[in-house]
Amino acid sequence: MILVTGATGNVGRHALEMLLGQGREVRAASRAPERATWPAGVRTVAADLADPASLATALAGVEAVFLFAVPGSGPAFVAAAEAAGVRRVVLLSSGAVDDEAEEQDGPIAAYHAEIEQALRGSGLEWTFLRPDVFAANTLMWAAQTKAGDVVRGAYADATAAPIHEADIAAVAVAALTEDGHAGEIYRLTGPQSLSHADQAEIIGEVLGRPITYQELPVETVRQAMSAHVPGAILDGILKAWADSVGRPALVTADVEKITGRTARSYRDWVSDHAAAF
Ligand SMILES: NC(=O)c1ccc[n+]([C@@H]2O[C@H](COP(=O)([O-])OP(=O)(O)OC[C@H]3O[C@@H](n4cnc5c(N)ncnc54)[C@H](OP(=O)(O)O)[C@@H]3O)[C@@H](O)[C@H]2O)c1
Repeated sequence: MILVTGATGNVGRHALEMLLGQGREVRAASRAPERATWPAGVRTVAADLADPASLATALAGVEAVFLFAVPGSGPAFVAAAEAAGVRRVVLLSSGAVDDEAEEQDGPIAAYHAEIEQALRGSGLEWTFLRPDVFAANTLMWAAQTKAGDVVRGAYADATAAPIHEADIAAVAVAALTEDGHAGEIYRLTGPQSLSHADQAEIIGEVLGRPITYQELPVETVRQAMSAHVPGAILDGILKAWADSVGRPALVTADVEKITGRTARSYRDWVSDHAAAF
């Protein structure tokens, strides 16, 4: 039995469908499974990674877990997984984690590194997926593309190699179901470094109308985003954008190495989500 946590999320939903498609025995976890829409026939369980008491039922009879990173959840998850006899854990970590740093740079890297640390210190077989920027982050522009032809935001020249969530899920499924991934760390990116302005242009090309990116002062963007994003996380996002300006984003071959197919392009991702824009 494979337990998929974060099963209602971008990556977890794909991982769940791919595992079901392979005919695997899967259990999908959510804090509120009764509120979600599930693929036909899937078994679900209520579990909150922030509430260790809820984990025993979810983990009973489970051999492998796809683990969503909830801040502070590492030690209690490890204890529950070991008690349940889980063998293998594939963690959705973050490319922000820096193995060389004495102290992680910011809260995003820090909480993922803490969960990695808990797994490293366990008797579980672990694999860490460290994706960089998700293509799905640009869904934050959807309200603007629906309302007009301009995306307004910070740093037009900030770069990323946006990754399709289905590619992260495909790597997760390989690591969950095949041998040879224990102790491995995969740095996952899309196939091409693109600026914010490039990404807006590609959305326009897919939608069939020109879309441009208008750079706003960073303080204006900080104020607008602070309604939805906690301060320390927002600082980290804005710093990452600022640091990337003028530098091509890292592009790795790990998706292709693990799945045997090239990583989907940002254009592919927009085509798959065109209705949202
Ligand atoms: N966005 C990026 O650019 C980026 C880059 C690198 C790494 N990451 C990593 O990827 C993650 C985002 O993945 P995603 O986009 O697939 O997620 P998502 O779409 O934001 O979905 C979040 C999922 O986590 C579940 N969840 C939240 N709190 C939980 C808890 N306390 N216990 C159990 N489940 C909980 C939610 O399920 P329910 O509501 O159904 O319980 C939901 O399915 C980030 O958190 C980060 O760890 C993101």
